[in-house]
Amino acid sequence: MTDKYVLAIDQGTTSSRAIIFDHKGTIVSVGQKEHEQIFPRAGWVEHDPQEIWRNVRAVVADALSQAELNQNDIAAVGITNQRETTVVWDKNTGEPACNAIVWQDTRTAKIVDELGGSEGQDKYKDRVGLPLATYFCGPKVKWILDNVDGAREKAEAGDLIMGTIDSWVLWNMTGGVNGGVHVTDVTNASRTMLMDLKTLDWDPEIAADMTIPMSMLPEIRSSAEVYGEGREQGMLAGVPIAGILGDQQAATFGQACFEVGMAKNTYGTGNFMLINTGTEIVPSKNGLLTTVCYKIGDKEAVYALEGSIAVTGSLVQWLRDNLGMFKSAPEIEELAKTVEDNGGAYFVPAFSGLFAPYWKSDARGALVGLTRYVNKGHIARAVLEATAYQTREVLDAMEADSGVKLAELKVDGGMTANETLMQFQADMLGVDVVRPVVAETTALGAAYAAGIAVGYWQGEQDVIDNWAEDKRWTPSMDQDEVDRKYRLWKKAVSRTFEWVD
Ligand code: G3P
Repeated sequence: MTDKYVLAIDQGTTSSRAIIFDHKGTIVSVGQKEHEQIFPRAGWVEHDPQEIWRNVRAVVADALSQAELNQNDIAAVGITNQRETTVVWDKNTGEPACNAIVWQDTRTAKIVDELGGSEGQDKYKDRVGLPLATYFCGPKVKWILDNVDGAREKAEAGDLIMGTIDSWVLWNMTGGVNGGVHVTDVTNASRTMLMDLKTLDWDPEIAADMTIPMSMLPEIRSSAEVYGEGREQGMLAGVPIAGILGDQQAATFGQACFEVGMAKNTYGTGNFMLINTGTEIVPSKNGLLTTVCYKIGDKEAVYALEGSIAVTGSLVQWLRDNLGMFKSAPEIEELAKTVEDNGGAYFVPAFSGLFAPYWKSDARGALVGLTRYVNKGHIARAVLEATAYQTREVLDAMEADSGVKLAELKVDGGMTANETLMQFQADMLGVDVVRPVVAETTALGAAYAAGIAVGYWQGEQDVIDNWAEDKRWTPSMDQDEVDRKYRLWKKAVSRTFEWVD
């Protein structure tokens, strides 16, 4: 079996990828395709689920053909996905009720406030580990049922079902209207606000509060088991689909963070830092989320504390697409290097409100500290620094919640190619920042989960053995300077509060 390969589908916020790995966890081929970001109004973000499904098929075909492989060479498929993004579709026709509502979308602010009522943001926190916020799925489903013509009637008749992107992709891959499997895994379910963290089952009371019929919800399964096989007419016919993890949990798995206190930080559209808390459910007092990290088959679930930052890499894209400051995202590093420092400018990208550790839906972005002196280079630097300061805020919260002082931070994701940012990050955190050789840890984590489920890999030890360090950044900035910058950042953040009235 080790002469075979494992294929991971990574359906992310901006693109879909299919990556084929060999037994050593080395990348054999990659197919990738971006999809449209739809912004119908300020604060709304949508994706077309049909486009996503088309792109998934296209990238799988591309990865297979580049490697000159077919379904007989693939031992298992793992799925990993942008989390919280919500699809509601008709199980009889396969038609989505409307576009997917993306995790960054803030349209549910009012629903979320009303749900909290006099009990406020933490109403369900002891059960689901999450504060009431626009980020999560439950309120998005309620919005669709309340606002899309005929949706509630169809849902109540049992025709409409919901899922995060993993469920949408899996249902289609396993046959869609011809017997598609309607399943999700514990990590994705833990982001819906509808799953009880202890029982790992849906909480009917919360679903009732959100007026969501239970019949819409997928079955919750572990992160590593065979859910179904590729549909007969597809390119992966008969191949077991055997791993599902939300993308941040997948990255934690791929980074081999298997011991309590081990943490990783992924630099994608947003930033997401997770620390493994073992089989213990640790409630946060400092604005972090309690979430399921992974569950391998019948073994006990492992939990994590998470600091989610909505906007990091997408701020660089915004500079590229909305302001036209450069043509490709990596150019920001050259621009930032044209100056010594931020020139006094601080950019707080509260485009979707502020996530961890603030959870303020009514915050909006701000660029402060401007004088005539500030130029493009300073703004580029302020943009990169924003990622590092936000990460420091999350790390502070994590150390306070877990009582663990991090020895080093494992990093991955697109922006870790930016050396200027990585050095600044180490300076701001005061700990070493370490990047592995395979920086595609998200896809790798999903591949491992699927491979372990079918016996292609034996277990976590294989992941540990395959992990290798590529580069390490060590803090070097004067502590007074670090403190001064961070103090100014905090001041800048306070300027973004209560903007939406
Ligand atoms: O919670 C949202 C997160 O899963 C999105 O990740 O990598 O698609 O930005 P990414």
